[in-house]
Amino acid sequence: MTQDEMKKAAAIKALDYVKEGSIVGVGTGSTVNHFIDALATIKYEIEGAVSSSEESSKRLKAHGIEVFDLNNIDILDVYVDGADEITKHMSMIKGGGAALTREKIVAAVAKQFICIADDSKQVEILGKFPLPVEVIPMARSYVARELVKLGGDPEYRLGVITDNGNIILDVHNLSITDPKKLEADINAIVGVVTNGLFANRGADVLVLGGKNGVEVIK
Ligand code: A5P
Repeated sequence: MTQDEMKKAAAIKALDYVKEGSIVGVGTGSTVNHFIDALATIKYEIEGAVSSSEESSKRLKAHGIEVFDLNNIDILDVYVDGADEITKHMSMIKGGGAALTREKIVAAVAKQFICIADDSKQVEILGKFPLPVEVIPMARSYVARELVKLGGDPEYRLGVITDNGNIILDVHNLSITDPKKLEADINAIVGVVTNGLFANRGADVLVLGGKNGVEVIK
């Protein structure tokens, strides 16, 4: 099985968590693209979706799946999204696709976070993947200096503007032993919109595609 086939297998398995008649929270990325395609096969059984990015909204709409404004939704049973790294404690680094803030907002509303990934995403300690931080453009240099004080090496992601009109700093060389604290510390820097650590609200279920099939970890 290729890495992409593992992603696809995990994405298809995640359909088990989609309730009939519900609105589904949908993340962003290549694994989620497989999930959106799988969701299209049961589109008449769901009411629609709430999306975490313009990219996912476009794909959902292309399949004829209605995309709702999160502000008009009271209940979201599940949010399905990928990860750049995930630990056995279900803490994640996300934001490789620059959609971290909307992802965190939709995840906050959902009762259950279903993470779909191939097994290359499983790690002992977070931080090998550079941690994305969404920043208000005028605060870029200030936030970068503060991130250096926290022990990281921030790098401006050139040519990327988020769906919210902000920039991304990717923080290299962090060994994240206390992800909940680091998530809170970085979010406390003025000018940071949010960072890609999903530790205070981690995943509830990990659907992991591997060479021998799909494993569900709770
Ligand atoms: C998007 O901003 C990210 O959080 C993605 O969920 C993450 O980068 C995983 O992407 P892939 O499914 O493409 O690996």
